[in-house]
Amino acid sequence: MAIHLHRTRFLLMRLLRTLLARRASFDSAFSSLVRKYSIGKAEARELYKLFYKVVIYYHSIKFVSAYSGFKPHLSGIVEYIYTKRFDMNRVLEDIVELSKSVSTATRIALLYGYPLWYVRDLYNKLPLSELESMLSSLNERKRWLRVNIAKTNIEGAIECLEKSGLRVKQHETFKEMLLVEDKYAKVGGNICVRKGLVVPQDISSYISASALRHVRGDIVDACSAPGVKLVQVLTEATTNRALAVDVSEKRVNVLFNLVRWFLGNRPNVIIIHGDSKVLEYNLRGAIALVDAPCSNSGAIYSDPAIKLHLSKRALKRFHAVQKALLKNSLKSMSRVFFMTCSVHPLEGEELIDYLVKSYDGKVHLSQITLPYPYLDKGYPGYTCSSRVYRIYPHKVNGQGVFMAVIEVNGFE
Ligand SMILES: C[S@@+](CC[C@H](N)C(=O)[O-])C[C@H]1O[C@@H](n2cnc3c(N)ncnc32)[C@H](O)[C@@H]1O
Repeated sequence: MAIHLHRTRFLLMRLLRTLLARRASFDSAFSSLVRKYSIGKAEARELYKLFYKVVIYYHSIKFVSAYSGFKPHLSGIVEYIYTKRFDMNRVLEDIVELSKSVSTATRIALLYGYPLWYVRDLYNKLPLSELESMLSSLNERKRWLRVNIAKTNIEGAIECLEKSGLRVKQHETFKEMLLVEDKYAKVGGNICVRKGLVVPQDISSYISASALRHVRGDIVDACSAPGVKLVQVLTEATTNRALAVDVSEKRVNVLFNLVRWFLGNRPNVIIIHGDSKVLEYNLRGAIALVDAPCSNSGAIYSDPAIKLHLSKRALKRFHAVQKALLKNSLKSMSRVFFMTCSVHPLEGEELIDYLVKSYDGKVHLSQITLPYPYLDKGYPGYTCSSRVYRIYPHKVNGQGVFMAVIEVNGFE
């Protein structure tokens, strides 16, 4: 389908403005654009792919357009892409050319579309080739579905998906995980999702929630919404009661519907709209899952706008919230499963090192005994490195996840 240059320039400008000013997610900003400007299905599909790439490479395009003499503003960036006739291959050629004459960190930032400070923060955490593979993989769109074994079996789910026009590939190790062949396919409204037979869930999210598979007794999901991990845990683990908490009222409603939708009525699930930084639980000895709010830098493939919102200030803010959530959970829980979908150490190893030190021998980190590949140790160079976990996006073809299990010593 031929691109209408003026219209595309106008629409791209609108989209980027919304993303930068309103911190909206890519999908919600794009959907509003489609509605507001009555974009037809075929055009929307083409524009989605184009704009997705523009946002993925936004930081590099900003650099290369300024280098090519365009204004260092949004209008200059869009104008530069316009002069390339919205051909992203031509834009990428310019980026590659420029990357040949700069330092290694700048080259990596340019080639994979990240802010330079972000690449510098990750620079010594992994060997260079691995770092490049990780950053490249985070840019690659994909769609995973988990078979909801509470409602169907694998064959039933695949049959339903194929009938609905979605071709999927089963994961070799995790048989319940299905990779959608068309990576840009919309899965939210799919009939098999609506019937509750499959849950849109990233593979790293699945692996990390599997760590709670052997949990018994009461469980508190302190940051629960929309509830994807909770639904999996309730399917796999033998829990007495589950307390699901979230600070966002809107997301609590989604959580409520999701649990009902995928699991039916569950009298042993209590859903609370509350702040897990301060809530006092009367559930001594329960296990907590703290799937904390974070910069989401490990989940860029599902929302490229995350890249536009990366900032040192936001990282510090999330770090402080994560600290407060952990400290409050450790007051009344015997074991806390902590997770973030961030690849930045401030939301992982640095946080855990701080916590263990500040508790001065009152807590320890315990092992996750999952017989799975893909569960690696943390970034090297931290006290906790060998006792925390990372799921690397380029190894699993999913999100980047950090995990730690913190136990309170002598808890009764
Ligand atoms: C990474 S998401 C959780 C995803 C969820 N566990 C799942 O698997 O679907 C983080 C959640 O934490 C919630 N949150 C942020 N601050 C919180 C707080 N102080 N107390 C409780 N929930 C909080 C956010 O509203 C968001 O829904």
